[in-house]
Amino acid sequence: MSTNIVWHESTVDKDSRAEKLGQKPSVIWLTGLSGSGKSTIANLLEKRLSESNHATYLLDGDNVRHGLCGDLGFDDKARVENIRRISEVSKLFVDAGLIVLTAFISPFKDDRAFCRSLLNEGEFIEVFVDTPIEVCEQRDPKGLYKKARSGDIKHFTGIDSAYEAPESPEIHLSYQEESAEATTERLYQALKAKGYVK
Ligand code: ADX
Repeated sequence: MSTNIVWHESTVDKDSRAEKLGQKPSVIWLTGLSGSGKSTIANLLEKRLSESNHATYLLDGDNVRHGLCGDLGFDDKARVENIRRISEVSKLFVDAGLIVLTAFISPFKDDRAFCRSLLNEGEFIEVFVDTPIEVCEQRDPKGLYKKARSGDIKHFTGIDSAYEAPESPEIHLSYQEESAEATTERLYQALKAKGYVK
């Protein structure tokens, strides 16, 4: 715990940085099961936003766990700490004026609410990538569901660790049999319709 620390205001603030970039900074927070398509969609969305002149940064679960959160496992305590760090980093990037895209399972409601609480009204956009577990398990791109079923991986989300679905996400991406590009386009149009992006 840090003590005797006083916040130092900077002269160049969030509004002026955002104005330079010509956008409304925010966190587009994708949550859903492993294999639901979060990372794929977040990648495609970042490309789409970049093409339409947005300044973005993508934080992805698997990548962040190689560095910033490389010391964390998957028990409940570690997942809470994972999302706490991501939330604080996201807040800094929003302060930098960016549109942050995150792709983390982020299975616990309270942790997602924590990130929301760090930001201003309208800056936290929760996107529920609502792919049924049967579909995720069928896809099993990394063979992890198979390992979880055979007991080689413990605390696997949806198998022996909980996933608390969002109750009122800003955007609910219901599952449809379509390409990832088509799903991303649905998301982009929803973000645009709600005025989050240009
Ligand atoms: S979170 O629960 O803390 O938000 P995060 O999104 O960072 O998870 O990481 C999830 C990724 O780690 C999954 O996509 C999967 O590739 C991998 N992984 C490894 N072990 C597990 C596990 N026990 N539960 C879920 N994902 C796991």
